[in-house]
Amino acid sequence: MIGVVPGAPAQSQAASRKAPQAAVAFEVNGKPCSLQLDTRTTLLDALREHLRLTGTKKGCDQGQCGACTVIVNGVRINSCLTLAVMHQGDRITTIEGLGQPERLHPMQAAFVKHDGYQCGYCTPGQICSAVAVLDEIKSGIPSHVSGDLTASPELTNTELRERMSGNICRCGAYSNIAEAIAEVAGSST
Ligand code: FES
Ligand code: FES
Repeated sequence: MIGVVPGAPAQSQAASRKAPQAAVAFEVNGKPCSLQLDTRTTLLDALREHLRLTGTKKGCDQGQCGACTVIVNGVRINSCLTLAVMHQGDRITTIEGLGQPERLHPMQAAFVKHDGYQCGYCTPGQICSAVAVLDEIKSGIPSHVSGDLTASPELTNTELRERMSGNICRCGAYSNIAEAIAEVAGSST
């Protein structure tokens, strides 16, 4: 028989406690969105569960795999590591906003051309990350392997691999992913 713990809140009291809610408004793939959310909702869950944008994937839900990468105000982030309510007024781009099947973003087309995936689970995050990586390099942001922090980073294979190292591919499609990114980098820089 289960005993009652002295001092524990009655079940009805605990159930009646409501999770704190807050309103947040941001732009997703060019469209304004307003949501009323439990303040503990991650941006990843807001996108997938509330806006039904399931292209962004949940791999680890703890910042280790990069499957949830989206681009916020031009910068890539792990959407599982940030709360949706922290993004009031932000511009968010997910894989659905980069391109569509009939009008692929050049990075999406390059991944198809070079077979940069097997199961495809990591692919939306890889592509969002790759697009942002090329912008980082263009903007002169150094990485851990940049030899000279005061010079513009070069588009070397080592730079690309280092910058993509937060995106894990359990299928091991890395060499094809690298080829796809290198092709886009070569044609756009
Ligand atoms: Fe966000 Fe893995 S799901 S880093
Ligand atoms: Fe399967 Fe990357 S293609 S995890």
